[in-house]
Amino acid sequence: FDCRKDILWKYKEFMPVDETKIVSLDEGGTPFCKCDKLGSELGIELFVKVEGSNPTGSFKDRGMSVGMTKAMELGVDTVGCASTGNTSASLAAYAARAGLRCVVLLPSGKVALGKLAQAMFHGAEVLSVNGNFDEALEAVTALALEKHLYLLNSINPYRLEGQKSIGFEIVHELGWESPDRIILPVGNAGNISAIWKGVTEFYKAGFIDSLPMMTGIQAEGACPIVNAFRKNTMDLVPTENPETIATAIRIGAPVSSIKALRAIYDSNGFAETVTDDEILEAQKELARKEGIGVEPASAASIAGLKKLVAEGIIDKGEQVVCIVTGHLLKDPNTAINACVEPIEIDADVDALKKVLLNK
Ligand code: F0G
Repeated sequence: FDCRKDILWKYKEFMPVDETKIVSLDEGGTPFCKCDKLGSELGIELFVKVEGSNPTGSFKDRGMSVGMTKAMELGVDTVGCASTGNTSASLAAYAARAGLRCVVLLPSGKVALGKLAQAMFHGAEVLSVNGNFDEALEAVTALALEKHLYLLNSINPYRLEGQKSIGFEIVHELGWESPDRIILPVGNAGNISAIWKGVTEFYKAGFIDSLPMMTGIQAEGACPIVNAFRKNTMDLVPTENPETIATAIRIGAPVSSIKALRAIYDSNGFAETVTDDEILEAQKELARKEGIGVEPASAASIAGLKKLVAEGIIDKGEQVVCIVTGHLLKDPNTAINACVEPIEIDADVDALKKVLLNK
């Protein structure tokens, strides 16, 4: 297998799967953009890890590559998941690549259009569940426990093994140094646990000599992890009816809450909420100041960064890495709704001059 490429399998010694069975679409090796405009406004050094550049447009591809490799190793014939959208898009593509049957459960009416299109187009059997993500996950887990399918939600540890490569890449890209802080959106709480696992493994291997403060951001309407953090406990009280425009993280009972809270506490990190308005504003700001287009859930990391700087939780001069988890085009409706309609005009130079030169 060619791992000279800048993809996650260049770290294959750290991936606990059979490397003769690798299912890959060249995931990982995503852009790591220094954002000087936003950073200097906030008085910090800011890098953004652009996970929307993965094959299906989100970080899920890293976990799915390793998870699907494990599925091949086990010789299963059907894979499945519940999803707020991105996991299903990724699973559908990797199942197609592996030649396996794929079943996905989606909360009815609450999945962004791009993600739904991907899951369907890659040939998954898509079931639209009357209920939210948490209920869909419970149902598909029951199916998996009866061995009808191999579950590839992030409760599957091989998903986290793949996603830990985000942590590997960040410290590698910083010249074998840990940033002061990593900020990311938290939904089912797998990714923050995975990245913490990655940086911790590199720390234990002696590649870096400090660890980042793991900082999780949730939407105000779906924030059980933040509530637990504020009470300084590991006991999670699920959010009954989670609601947010960031449908990717519209989750009330995250399955990896214990691992996530451990990552936050052990790293001296933090957890904070942001409102839907703050998310949409941060999404626009990142797109217009830095040219990075992300879906709403991803912008929660930038919105959280701004809030924590304002609150004085983040010190001036800190080196911060924000993970932006999914591409802008995953949720085209939200993007279009945030903009004014284009001006209708004749294909005529005078008409163009009238509009463009009289501003
Ligand atoms: N950002 C995006 C774009 C996501 O799709 C998700 C999760 C998260 C952040 C949160 O990551 O769950 O590891 O804490 N999406 C899952 C899905 C739940 O079904 O696509 P997490």
